[in-house]
Amino acid sequence: MRLLFLGDVVGRTGRRAVLDTLPKLRERYKLDFVIVNGENAAGGFGITEAILEDLLDAGADAVTLGNHAFDQKEALVYIERQPRLIRPLNFPKGTPGRGTGLFKAKNGADVLVINALGRVFMADLDCPFRAIDSEITACTLKTGADAILVDFHAEATSEKQALGVFLDGRVSAVVGTHTHSPTADERVLPNGTAFISDVGMCGDYNSVLGMDTDEPVNRFLTRIPRERFQPSDGPATVTGLAIEIDDATGLAMWTKGLRLGGVLEPTEPLVWVE
Ligand SMILES: [Fe+2]
Ligand SMILES: [Fe+2]
Repeated sequence: MRLLFLGDVVGRTGRRAVLDTLPKLRERYKLDFVIVNGENAAGGFGITEAILEDLLDAGADAVTLGNHAFDQKEALVYIERQPRLIRPLNFPKGTPGRGTGLFKAKNGADVLVINALGRVFMADLDCPFRAIDSEITACTLKTGADAILVDFHAEATSEKQALGVFLDGRVSAVVGTHTHSPTADERVLPNGTAFISDVGMCGDYNSVLGMDTDEPVNRFLTRIPRERFQPSDGPATVTGLAIEIDDATGLAMWTKGLRLGGVLEPTEPLVWVE
């Protein structure tokens, strides 16, 4: 089966690019399942229900989140009626919404999606390793799900790589998100899990993490906030990870980073394995 993961959608330019490109990608590559990280979709901070529905209508099967999950306060309420919106699993007990979801792919396969937050240089949440471990023990690859995809939203590359090793052979893919800059280390790990340290963002790369550059530079220079961060509005690059999964094992056969449009060097066309 063919799976595509798109990195953090940042602001209007990121949304426009994803809404325009995703239906074409689904068609062109005959994708079975698509996951989009939506934690920065609303002006860079969180996601509204209207934006979530736009992403689902454009072809996302699941939308994952991160540290900005609840920046739009309405998400605390509407997430309960939106099963395709997945927030970090290791938030405190009682947090609205769910940290995993089991969904039907286009080819009929059952795909388990898990979102978790790292703890290095981030908030001190429950252990993401143990939280994910108990989910995939309850729903194992091939008996509980035909594919398992983990969006690990974390700052430190070490923590992301360690989770990749920890889950290698037990999930289809571990996709790093949050740093908004794509890394060049995508590969299939020795036991069959597709991995990338960070998939990047869908947004304007002439920016600081998708934001207009003036205020981030000001804050580093002066340490005095002058205004709110504003999403940068230049042409967006759609950045993601394509994964081909072996239907027999649920493990990855091949993976490749995708970059399309905007200022980054494009990677299209992707040559999928048969
Ligand atoms: Fe983000
Ligand atoms: Fe983040």
